[in-house]
Amino acid sequence: MLTQHSTATSLLARFRTVREGTMRFCAPLTPEDMMVQSCAEASPVKWHLAHTSWFFETFVLSEFTAGYKPFHADFRWLFNSYYNAVGDRPEKKLRASFSRPGLDEILAFRKHVDAGIVRLLEQGADDEALRRVVLGLEHEHQHLELAATDVKHAFFTNPLQPAYTPQPEGASQEEAIAPPLEWLAFTPGPATQPGVVEIGVSPDPAAIEAFAFDNETPRHRVYLAPFRLASRLTTCAEYLAFMDEGGYTRPELWLSEGWDTIRDQEWQAPLYWRRDTAAKSGWSIFTMHGWRTLEKVSETPVCHLSFFEADAFARWSGARLPTEFEWEFVAAQQPVRGNFLESGALHPTTASAKSGSQQMFGDVWEWTSSPYTGYPGYKPLPGALGEYNGKFMSSQIILRGGSCVTPQTHIRATYRNFFHPATRWQFSGLRLARDGQS
Ligand SMILES: [Fe+2]
Repeated sequence: MLTQHSTATSLLARFRTVREGTMRFCAPLTPEDMMVQSCAEASPVKWHLAHTSWFFETFVLSEFTAGYKPFHADFRWLFNSYYNAVGDRPEKKLRASFSRPGLDEILAFRKHVDAGIVRLLEQGADDEALRRVVLGLEHEHQHLELAATDVKHAFFTNPLQPAYTPQPEGASQEEAIAPPLEWLAFTPGPATQPGVVEIGVSPDPAAIEAFAFDNETPRHRVYLAPFRLASRLTTCAEYLAFMDEGGYTRPELWLSEGWDTIRDQEWQAPLYWRRDTAAKSGWSIFTMHGWRTLEKVSETPVCHLSFFEADAFARWSGARLPTEFEWEFVAAQQPVRGNFLESGALHPTTASAKSGSQQMFGDVWEWTSSPYTGYPGYKPLPGALGEYNGKFMSSQIILRGGSCVTPQTHIRATYRNFFHPATRWQFSGLRLARDGQS
C-alpha cells in the first residue's frame, strides 16, 4: 500500500508537469491557429487539447471514479479518435469545423478532467487506475508531438508562413560542421550463440511507472547477422547531393510504390524545401522558426522524408536502411540523450564531433526497413484500449528514436513508432546501414 501511495504521489507530480507542458506549447498560438487542420494527417490543436482530456475521462474517470459526472454528454463521441468499441465519432476531416465547442469550453473541459484525476490520485486509486493514468500521460505526450508537427504544417500552408517562435538566441547550430560519417561495426550476440539477441520488453506488472506500449512486448529473441551502422544521421548536404545527381528522376533507385508516389505527388525534394534563387544553395527550408537558407542548415539532419525517399537515398548511397532490430540493439547500449522538445531547438541539430553512435535519440525519427507487425506472442491490451496500437499492424513501417519535438521522457530504445511509407509531415529522416563487417 505504501508503494501504491508513493506511485500515486509521483504520478500526481508527473500528471501536472505533462498537462502544463501541453498548455505551455500552446502559449504562442492564437485561438485561430488552434483551429487549423491543414493536411489529412493533422488535427487542430484545439482538438488535441480536447481529445487528450477525452482519453482521461473515457478510460480513467468514467471507469474508476464512482459517480463521476462527465463534463458534457456529447464529448464522449465528439472527441473519440478511432476507438470503434467506444462508439461512433465524427469523420477526422471534419475536425477543423469544430468551431463549437469554443476554446474556452475546451479549456474548461481540461480543468474539469484535471481536477478529477488529481482527486483520484489524492484519494487513492487501484493499480489498474494508476496504469491508465500512466497510459493517458504517454498518450498526451504523443499528441503534444503531433500538435507540434501539425502547427508546423499549418504555418507552412498559411500564406504569411509565420514562425511558431523566433529562433532561440545562442541555441542555433547553424553553420556547424557535422563530423565525417563513420561506419561502426557490430557483431551481435554472445560467443555461444552468435547473432542471437533479445529485443523488446516484458514489463514487470508491479512496476506501474516503468511504462511500455503493448506493441513493444513481449521481449523475444531475434537473429542479427553482423552489420554496420552509420555513426550519425544523414545530413541535408548529403541529401542535396542525391537530388543533384538526379535522385528523384532515376527509377532504378525507387521502390515501385515510391516511384508512383513521387510522380503522382510531383515530389522533387523533402517536404518544407523550396527553390530559392536568392540562396547560395538554391534552396530554403521552412522551420518552426521560419525560413532558413539551406546553406545555413546543410549540416543538420535531413528531415520530413517519406520512407520511400529514405530508402531511395540509401540505395543511391550503396547502403540500406537498418532493420528496427539492428537499431534497437545499438540504441539499447546508450543513455537516452539528445535533442528533444525540451531543448527548444524544434529542429534537428548538427551532430557533435564525438566518436561512436550519435543522435540515436531525438533530432529525427529514423525510418527502418521493418514493417510494423506484432512481436511473437504479442497481445493487445484488453477491451477498447486494444485498438490503441494493434489494429494498425498493416501497411506501415517502423521508425525509431524520437525527434526534436518528442518529449524526452516519452522515448526509449524499445519504442516503436509507425507510419504509412508515404508519410512525411513528421520529423522523419534516416541513418544508413550496411551488411557485414567491412
Ligand atoms: Fe489519441
